[in-house]
Amino acid sequence: MALGTPRADPTDPDIRELLAARAHLTMHALDGLMLESVPLNAIADAVGTPVWIYGAATMRQRYRTLARALADAGLEITLHYALKANDHLAVIRVFVAEGAGADVVSEGELRRARLAGVPSSQIVFSGVGKSEHELRLALAMEVGQINVESAEELHILSSVAAGAGRIARVALRINPDVDAETHTKISTGRMHDKFGIPWNDIAGLYRHAASLPGIKPVGLAMHIGSQIMTLAPFRAAYARLADVARHVRAEGHSVEVVDCGGGLGVPYRNEPFVSPAGLAGALHAAFAGLDVRLQLEPGRWLVAGAGLLVSSVLMVKHVSNGMRFVVLDAAMNDLLRPTLYNAWHGIVPLSAADAVAPAIQTDVVGPVCESGDTFARSRLLPPLVRNARVAILDVGAYGSVMSSTYNARPLAPAVLVDGERWSLIRSRQRHEALWQDEHVPESLA
Ligand code: LLP
Repeated sequence: MALGTPRADPTDPDIRELLAARAHLTMHALDGLMLESVPLNAIADAVGTPVWIYGAATMRQRYRTLARALADAGLEITLHYALKANDHLAVIRVFVAEGAGADVVSEGELRRARLAGVPSSQIVFSGVGKSEHELRLALAMEVGQINVESAEELHILSSVAAGAGRIARVALRINPDVDAETHTKISTGRMHDKFGIPWNDIAGLYRHAASLPGIKPVGLAMHIGSQIMTLAPFRAAYARLADVARHVRAEGHSVEVVDCGGGLGVPYRNEPFVSPAGLAGALHAAFAGLDVRLQLEPGRWLVAGAGLLVSSVLMVKHVSNGMRFVVLDAAMNDLLRPTLYNAWHGIVPLSAADAVAPAIQTDVVGPVCESGDTFARSRLLPPLVRNARVAILDVGAYGSVMSSTYNARPLAPAVLVDGERWSLIRSRQRHEALWQDEHVPESLA
C-alpha cells in the first residue's frame, strides 16, 4: 500500500455537498470561492500561493457556539484554547477577546499565549515532558495551573518550586484507560500510551503531592485523544474521572478543578460528529453533582473548519498508463496531515466554472520528493488545468503549526479574514531565513 494516501470512497461528499455543510464558504459566479465575505482569489493575487487563510468571524462563532452549549447545560466551565492547534498570535487574540484562557505545552506556546494577552492565571501548562527551565518559567509567570503527568515530574516540579519559593497549583493528569476510537497516533488515554498517570495510581499520588513542598494539588486533568467522533469514549472517560475525584475527596483532599482536555472531532468528510450540546450533556451527566470548576481545552473544534490552504496547480501530469496527477505548489511540508494520518481533506476549486465541470478521477500531489506527498488519491474532481487554484479545506487546526521547511521550502504566509476585511498575519518566509542561523566551519569555508 502506498504511504499516506487518503483513498477516494464512493460516499465522499462532492464539492456541492462540502460547501453546503460549510456556511462560511460560498461560491460566487464571478468572484469564485469566498471565505466569509472575501474572495480567495483576491488574497492569492496579492500574496501568492500556497497561502493559509483563516476566518476570524468563523472562529468566533465556533467559540460562541461551544460556550453557549456548555452554559445552556448549566455548567460552570472555562475554555482554555489549545494553542498547539493553531498558534498564530492573531488567532489567539480572537479567542482572548472572547474570554478564553490557553492550554500550552512548551516555553514557546507559553510565551505566545502571554504575548497575545492571555492572563497568566488563565494558562494551563500541559505536556508529558516539561524541562526544569520551562517549569521555572511557568512558576515565575505565575501560570494558573500545571498539569502533571507522572510521579517523576511531580518531584522535579516540587524541587523547582520549593527552590524558587513558589507554590505550584497542580492538577494530576489521569490516564483512564479508555480507547478514544480515533487514529492511533492521536489516541492518548489507553494504558500503553505515554500520557498521564494510571487512574488507579492517582489517589496515592494525590496524597503524596499534598505532602510535597511547593505543590498544591488542586484537581485532576485528562485528555483521551483528538478527533473523537462519538460520545461513548467521552462518557466512559468522564465517568472514570468523576469516580477518581470522589475517591480522592473521600480521602480528605480537596478537588477544586477538573480539566477534561480537548478532543471534539470535526466532520472532514461530512460524517456524523459529536455536537457541543452532546458533549455538554456528557459533562453534565458526569460532573453536575460534583461541585467542581470544569475546564476544557478545545483546539481542533474551534479552528479546523475556519482554515483553508490555497494552492495553485503547477502542472497536470499525464502518464501513458492513464494516470493523471495534479501537481500543486503546496506539499506535505505545508500540510502534513494526509501523509501522517492518512487524513482526508476536501479540495474545492476557487473558480465557479471549474467547480461545476464534470468530475474525473484525480490524484492530487505536491512537489516534494516522496510518494507520501499526496493530498488525495483517485478523488473525483473537475479537470483542473495549469495555474488553476484550489482550496484544501478544514486545515485551520494542525495545519500550518505542523509545517516544516523540508526540501528547503519556506513556510507559507498566513492571512486572517474577518468578515469583509483581510490582513496578512505571517509573511512568506524568505529563503535567506532558512539558513540564517547556520554556520559553516572555518575548515570548510
Ligand atoms: N489538551 C491536550 C493535553 C492535548 O494534548 C490536545 C491535543 C488538546 C488539548 C487539544 O485537542 P483537540 O481539541 O484539538 O482535539 N496533530 C494531530 C492532533 C494532535 C492533538 C494533540 N493534542 C492531528 O492533526 O490530527
